[in-house]
Amino acid sequence: MSHNHNEEHEELHKPPRRKEMSRRQFLTYTLGGASAYMAGGVILPMLRFAVDPILQDRAEGAFVKVVEVSKITNEPQEFNFELKQQDGWYSSKALLTAWIRKTDSGEILALSPICKHLGCLVGWNNNKNYPNEYHCPCHGARYTSDGKNLTVAPKPLDMYTVKEENGWIYLGEIVANTVVK
Ligand code: FES
Repeated sequence: MSHNHNEEHEELHKPPRRKEMSRRQFLTYTLGGASAYMAGGVILPMLRFAVDPILQDRAEGAFVKVVEVSKITNEPQEFNFELKQQDGWYSSKALLTAWIRKTDSGEILALSPICKHLGCLVGWNNNKNYPNEYHCPCHGARYTSDGKNLTVAPKPLDMYTVKEENGWIYLGEIVANTVVK
């Protein structure tokens, strides 16, 4: 009698339906995990498919062949070149300009023509009052042949990264001017 009573007593104090709860939780987690895993299997390859052209374009389009090294003088000259751009599956061409010269130390310097004031295009020796300087027709910014800002513009002209290979100059991305101290 007392034994039975003890059993009843134990039964009463057991946490109710504990095993069931944990089995249900187990199933919930397992099924949830499986569907997340399956979704990942479908979505990840799609993402990679979409992103790949962009990654490839970055790697391939880093430098553009522009001009023979032998044509470059100490005097800046204007060169135009095309940059093929790939935005996903959409490709377009941008026409870019660089002012290229050989510095006194013999390095190739390729400057971007975009004025650092408000973005107009500068030209070399294009204002009689300021010979041998880059001049911006919009608000009169002036720069030296190395792109150093003399007036109006807050910063030196940006420059292209330059690569020389087999007698040709290749231009890459536009970066901040490192020639001007
Ligand atoms: S944009 Fe060149 S001076 Fe203003």
